[in-house]
Amino acid sequence: MINEGYKAMLGGKSVIRELSEYATRRGAEIGYENVFDFSLGNPSVPAPDDFTRTMVDLYEHGDPVAIHGYSPSLGIPSVCATIAELLNRRFGVPYEAHHIFPTTGAAGALSHAMRAVTKPGDEIITFAPYFPEYQPYVAGTGAKLTVVPADTANFQINFDAFEAALNANVQAVLINTPNNPSGAVYSAETLTRLSAILAAKQTEYGHDIFLISDEPYREIVFDGGEQPYPARFYSNTLTCYSFSKSLSLPGERIGYVAVNPRATDADLLVAMMGQISRGTGHNCPPSSIQLGVAKVIDETSDLSVYETNMNLLYDALTSLGFEVVRPGGTFYIFPKALESDATAFCLKAKEYDLILVPSDSFGVTGHFRMAYCVDTEKVKRSIPALERFVREQYGR
Ligand SMILES: Cc1ncc(COP(=O)(O)O)c(C=O)c1O
Repeated sequence: MINEGYKAMLGGKSVIRELSEYATRRGAEIGYENVFDFSLGNPSVPAPDDFTRTMVDLYEHGDPVAIHGYSPSLGIPSVCATIAELLNRRFGVPYEAHHIFPTTGAAGALSHAMRAVTKPGDEIITFAPYFPEYQPYVAGTGAKLTVVPADTANFQINFDAFEAALNANVQAVLINTPNNPSGAVYSAETLTRLSAILAAKQTEYGHDIFLISDEPYREIVFDGGEQPYPARFYSNTLTCYSFSKSLSLPGERIGYVAVNPRATDADLLVAMMGQISRGTGHNCPPSSIQLGVAKVIDETSDLSVYETNMNLLYDALTSLGFEVVRPGGTFYIFPKALESDATAFCLKAKEYDLILVPSDSFGVTGHFRMAYCVDTEKVKRSIPALERFVREQYGR
């Protein structure tokens, strides 16, 4: 018999994917250049030339058996050592190779981190607005996801609501900074307060509470700023990283979990993740890509275009009277819609070939997300469409 649970999920497909598919269909009708598709978080800048050269060199001169062979189930040791050394150098956390677990992107990292520190029936807390895929990621582990309502004033953490949600069944707290969809960068103050609350609750409940920190946008921070490193603030942190956005490699499916060496059972967790892989099937990410990213570990794509696009949109949106928190990073902006029904707002925008994502699936009402990982030229051309939409539909 087929699995009724997965069958039921067919009725609730990703809104973002559906909008993106609509944009592609509309593009076939009127030319994709005329569709202002702000739906999908697919990087718009190429991977660094050094990455391409590294891969060409690897394929031309490397040992084909090793390059195309299975990687060890805990990752290629030299790759893990390179990542550990980078994190140590950048953030002053003393990782060693055996604290690093290469994965298939951040999605793979999260699925291993969650399973390592929860069991079915446990509770994981996250904060709105959140990446909608957290729902299926957590559902797949058998744990329950509790969403703390947003602090819509600045998209940091609503601490009163967080403290009210905490209970002894919570084994993990899942954060994402810089944040998809709000673009917020959690401040050192936010991380200090979060970590103090978690430390106190660990003592009160008599068990560990792990912080699972999802950081695929770590490198995309604006105004010359930096994302304070969450694992520096809290020992029981599992950092989930991805090269999808920083190196523009989402299709290569490569990331890692970094287990804070100060965490409880830090020396066991990566080995446990190796066991988890046997069940999830997300084992042994491609050897060639592990070797490739390790060679360019200090590089990123040219990410500056995202800041350019953010400034263009932020200025346009604020001058049109939108309420919007200025993003500190990522390639998303999350303004308040001009009516309380975000879906109705986005449906109206579609008439102007503006593809915006309503906020409901991010756990917040009355907002919309724009993913501005698109050509700057297109962002500029979208502004008159945005102006016409707002004028004709809302008289502004
Ligand atoms: C917040 C967040 N977490 C995780 C992921 C998954 O990343 P990956 O494609 O590297 O698996 C994404 C992808 O967009 C994301 O935005």
